[in-house]
Amino acid sequence: MNNKVFLNNKICNIEEAKISIFDRGFLFSDGVYELIPFFNKKPFLFEEHYKRLENSLKMLDLDNPYSKDEWLDKIKMLLNYCEYDNFSLYIQITRGEPLSYNDGIFREHAAIKKYKTSVSMFFSKINDLSESFIRCETAITLEDKRWMQCDIKSISLLYNSYAKTLASKKGAYEAILFRNGVLTEGCSSNVFIVKNKKIITPKLSNLILHGITRSYIINEIIKKNKFEIVIEDINEEDLFSSDEVFITNSTQGVLPIIKINNKKINKGTCGEISKKLHQLYLKKIN
Ligand code: PDD
Repeated sequence: MNNKVFLNNKICNIEEAKISIFDRGFLFSDGVYELIPFFNKKPFLFEEHYKRLENSLKMLDLDNPYSKDEWLDKIKMLLNYCEYDNFSLYIQITRGEPLSYNDGIFREHAAIKKYKTSVSMFFSKINDLSESFIRCETAITLEDKRWMQCDIKSISLLYNSYAKTLASKKGAYEAILFRNGVLTEGCSSNVFIVKNKKIITPKLSNLILHGITRSYIINEIIKKNKFEIVIEDINEEDLFSSDEVFITNSTQGVLPIIKINNKKINKGTCGEISKKLHQLYLKKIN
């Protein structure tokens, strides 16, 4: 049952979902994506994810192919085939392939033709997050060598995937990125540190993805539970001398990082504040 995907208005089996090699997503990474978590079969923060998708499209001058109601219908159509309780819905929109090949030109950098927008969606299982058991992970640090528009959720994730593969080869889960000595984010997460009970995270800018979980944790968990939050630059020394480090994203929630570059953060165990935020987050999604 769980092998259906959505491709350009059709539900099809994974093996049947094919796109043109002239799709600009394939040739130039000319597209955007969004990843919406569902817990107990219900979307979590759908409006926020939808708004970010609209923003990403706008920033790349891509048309939204559907109205919001149409999106909801199509998502429902696909999710009829989903048997998981907790899963992520992946949505990808690319500029697509040219409407016509009559001019004999099959690839050109400038997007100056008319194209058939391509939309694909699929769902993936999210492993259950548990209140009593908190997973802790390790990370490495790397120079942030991505382009300067990391606030667009673009499908161009070459550096993110390269860096995360490098982390994985070193036995770590995430690569935490620094640009000119200042922490930006993880390859697939936003980063927070805790120092003397103060929770610190970098400011929003074009250099990081405006994480939906980041905002939710700050506004609905940290502030409402009277923890102290400070939005400011973090350098390498701050990171390594912090009491706790945790990362956030839609599929992992709050994930403590206990070792970075093989160096323990504090005692190298899961910190109390991270644990509390993790538990408070799970209460909200269940
Ligand atoms: N990525 N920063 C980057 C670079 C990310 O790729 C992600 C999430 C985040 C966190 O964003 P959010 O809280 O909205 O999930 C931050 C998703 C999970 C992915 O690409 O699979």
